Amino acid sequence: MTAQVIHRLHLEAFRNYDTLNLALNSTPVILVGENGAGKTNILEAVSLLSPGRGLRRAAIAELHNTHIPPEKPWSAFFEAVGKQGDVNIGMGRDPESTPDKERRLLRIDGKTIKGQTALAEHVNVIWLTPDMDRLLAESAGERRRFADRLAFALDSSHGTRINRYEEAMRSRARLLRDGTTDDAWLNALEASMAQDGIAIAAARNEWMHHIRTHLADDPSPFPAVQVAMNGFLEKYLESHAALDAESLFKTMLKQNRAQDAASGITTTGTHRSDLEVHHVSKNMPAHLCSTGEQKALLISLVLAQARLLRAIHQSTPLILLDDITAHLDEMRRDALAQQLLALGGQAWLSGTDDSFFTAFKQKAQFLHINNGHVTTP
Ligand SMILES: Nc1ncnc2c1ncn2[C@@H]1O[C@H](COP(=O)(O)OP(=O)(O)OP(=O)(O)O)[C@@H](O)[C@H]1O
Ligand SMILES: [Mg+2]
Repeated sequence: MTAQVIHRLHLEAFRNYDTLNLALNSTPVILVGENGAGKTNILEAVSLLSPGRGLRRAAIAELHNTHIPPEKPWSAFFEAVGKQGDVNIGMGRDPESTPDKERRLLRIDGKTIKGQTALAEHVNVIWLTPDMDRLLAESAGERRRFADRLAFALDSSHGTRINRYEEAMRSRARLLRDGTTDDAWLNALEASMAQDGIAIAAARNEWMHHIRTHLADDPSPFPAVQVAMNGFLEKYLESHAALDAESLFKTMLKQNRAQDAASGITTTGTHRSDLEVHHVSKNMPAHLCSTGEQKALLISLVLAQARLLRAIHQSTPLILLDDITAHLDEMRRDALAQQLLALGGQAWLSGTDDSFFTAFKQKAQFLHINNGHVTTP
C-alpha cells in the first residue's frame, strides 16, 4: 500500500503568500495559526491538485495575491508521489489570459497539459471545510455536487459529462423559452442529455455501490451512515437496461417540452437528484441531526471515501480537513487522529491551536502559520 504525498510545495503570489517553500515528509500535516493566518489558503492550493476550482471554487484571478503586481501571476508547484509514482505538477494563471477569459496553466512533469482531467490520473484529493457544515441541511444542489465530486474519483469522465449535460439543458431551456419550433435541434439536445444523463446516473450508482461497502466497514465512533441517491433515473437504472432508461428519458424530455417552457425548469433529469444521508443508530435523516452530528456524518463519509479510493488505487488519497476540530469533542478528535494515522496517508488538517491535535503526538508535522509565513516548531 502506498500513499499520495506532497514532498515540496512552492507558492508564488498565491492569496496571502508572497513566496512559500515547504519541504514535507509523508506524515499528516497540521497547520496551526490564528484566524486569517493563511491556513485555508494552503489547503486551497493543495485542493487545486484535483480538477476544478478547488475547495473555495474560486475564480483563477481571485487566487492572485492582491499586494503583488498582476504581471507576476500566481503559481503553485508540487513535488509529489502520486498514484503512478513521482510526479511534478505546476500550475498558475496563464499570463496570456484576459479578465473575461481567465485560464489556468497546467504542467505535469514539464509538459503543458490541456484541460485538467489528467490531474486525476496522479492524485485524489478529498476535503471537508467549514463551508460544508450546512451541506446536509440545505439545498440538494450542493449535496449533489458533493456526491458527484466523490463519484468523479471513480470515473474521470463524470465531470465532463455533467458539464456537457448541463450545457445541453441550458440550450434546450433557451430554445423553449424563445418558443422555437426547431424540432430537429431540440431532438438533438434531448438525445445528448439522455445519453449523458444515463451515464451520469450510472456513475453515481456505481459510486453508491462502492461507498456503501466502505461505510459498512467503519470501525470508528463516527456514526454509521446510510446513503442513497434520490433520483428518478438512478432508481430506474437499478432494475432496467441503460438503453431502456435512455429512450425513456428522451421520451420524457420531449413530452415535458410545453411544461418546461412554461415553468422555465427542466422537470426531469439527473440535475434534480439528491444525495440522501441517514444517521443509522439514531434512525434520523441527516438534516434533522445536530450540527456536531452532521459534521460527524460528513467525516464518516469522507473517511469511507478515503478507504474506498485506497482499496481501488492501492494508494491513500490526500485528505484536507479544514478547521476540523471546531465541532468535535476530545474523544472524537482523538478518534479522528487514530483513523487518519491508520489510513496512513498525508492528511492535512488545520486549526487555531496545537492542543487540538495532541493525539497525533510525534506522528505528524506541525507548521505554525502567521500572516502568510510558516515556521516549523
Ligand atoms: N487574493 C488574496 N490576496 C491577498 N490576501 C488574500 C487573498 N485572498 C485572501 N487573502 C487573505 O488571506 C488571509 C488568510 O486567509 P485564510 O482563509 O487562509 O485564513 P485562515 O488561517 O484559514 O483563517 P481562519 O482561522 O479564520 O479560517 C486572510 O486575511 C485573507 O483576507
Ligand atoms: Mg480557514
